[in-house]
Amino acid sequence: MAENYVQKLIAERIGGDQFGKSTVIYKFEKIKRAKAEAIAAYPDLEIIDMGVGEPDACADSGVVKTLSVEASKWENRNYADNGIAEFKEAVVRYLDNVYGVSNIDAATEVNHSIGSKPALAMMAQAFINPGDVALMTVPGYPIMGTMTKWLGGEVYNMPLLAENKFLPDFEEIPHKIVKKAKLLYLNYPNNPTGAVANKAFFKKAIKFAKENNLVIVHDAAYAALTFDGYKPLSFLSVPGAKKVGVEIHSLSKAYNMTGWRMAYVVGNPKVVAAFASVKDNNDSGQFKAIQLASAYALDHPEITEETAAKYSRRHDLLVATLNKIGLKAEKPKGSFYLYVAIPKGVKGGQRFQTAEDFSQYLIKEKMISTVPWDDAGAYVRFSVTFLAANEFEEQEVMKEIGRRLSDVKFEF
Ligand SMILES: Cc1ncc(COP(=O)(O)O)c(C=O)c1O
Repeated sequence: MAENYVQKLIAERIGGDQFGKSTVIYKFEKIKRAKAEAIAAYPDLEIIDMGVGEPDACADSGVVKTLSVEASKWENRNYADNGIAEFKEAVVRYLDNVYGVSNIDAATEVNHSIGSKPALAMMAQAFINPGDVALMTVPGYPIMGTMTKWLGGEVYNMPLLAENKFLPDFEEIPHKIVKKAKLLYLNYPNNPTGAVANKAFFKKAIKFAKENNLVIVHDAAYAALTFDGYKPLSFLSVPGAKKVGVEIHSLSKAYNMTGWRMAYVVGNPKVVAAFASVKDNNDSGQFKAIQLASAYALDHPEITEETAAKYSRRHDLLVATLNKIGLKAEKPKGSFYLYVAIPKGVKGGQRFQTAEDFSQYLIKEKMISTVPWDDAGAYVRFSVTFLAANEFEEQEVMKEIGRRLSDVKFEF
């Protein structure tokens, strides 16, 4: 039958003839189902959604206006291929301005990407042969690792633990793994832990990469969203970085532009060229009007600073609220994520073995949605991108969380 023969043709990498038949329910689907159950059980109560991984606000009006002007121009209508010079030059100005990185050549060391997600997948396509290893961090954003496996490579997961300030410990990686490794993925400020890196850590990573012939891919999706005296830090500001790797920046989180799909790879010219070659075989570039609107955004870093101040304020509110009800929350220095260790249970009530148990409890019993992480310790991730139109509404959300959890006592 037709349906059967299509099923048999599906590639092994996405399940082969078992594709679509698995009964395993993945994390985000479980959250979705729990939300639906909770809404059915408490139709009059609104879900407080702390699980979303993207900004709640629109892009800046100047950025939107630039797009609308540029979208109607004849010269912007066609394929952009590997990108336009105006955007690359804006990247060079931006990196100097915000991160103090002043040694970037626009023509050879910058290439745009239709978001950082495909850039991460393409980085694996550019480097991984069967048997090669990508060193990934867990918990984390898995795209480069997934593509590595699809290409016949292997993933080695480095746990991010509280006792190491959520930084990977390179000494712990077995020698035989390091020998096969080609790519080292880092992401600071980190999703989901909210941890930040410092120059000393990047220096250590560069030394490790040099000694072991690795390419560092630093995912800087949240790099500009920092607060409390921690300044945006680029891996490229550390001497020697450009010799061993690249950084991937995105406009998604820094500029409330997730749907616009705009990011860039910057750093080592050979890595950038390899990426560009792969990209050329995957897509034909982002719409030039979006690239020009993005260049406008990069020339206005105050847009991001305002957003960072908002997240900082919300983190303060949320940390205070969660601590008051007996959880142990600590404000991060960057990102919009708050990573909170789970309690063992509720006094006289439910026990939690895993973060998933706790997250399910919060959704089903309290209508508060979070994302659970059980990869390296049990934590739930709250995101301060919850819906609130202004500071008054933010306070109201906090009061509501307090009310919903006022009758429980957590045990650790
Ligand atoms: C760590 C990290 N990297 C990359 C991305 C992808 O961002 P985008 O493809 O929108 O640039 C995300 C999105 O959630 C992320 O959390």
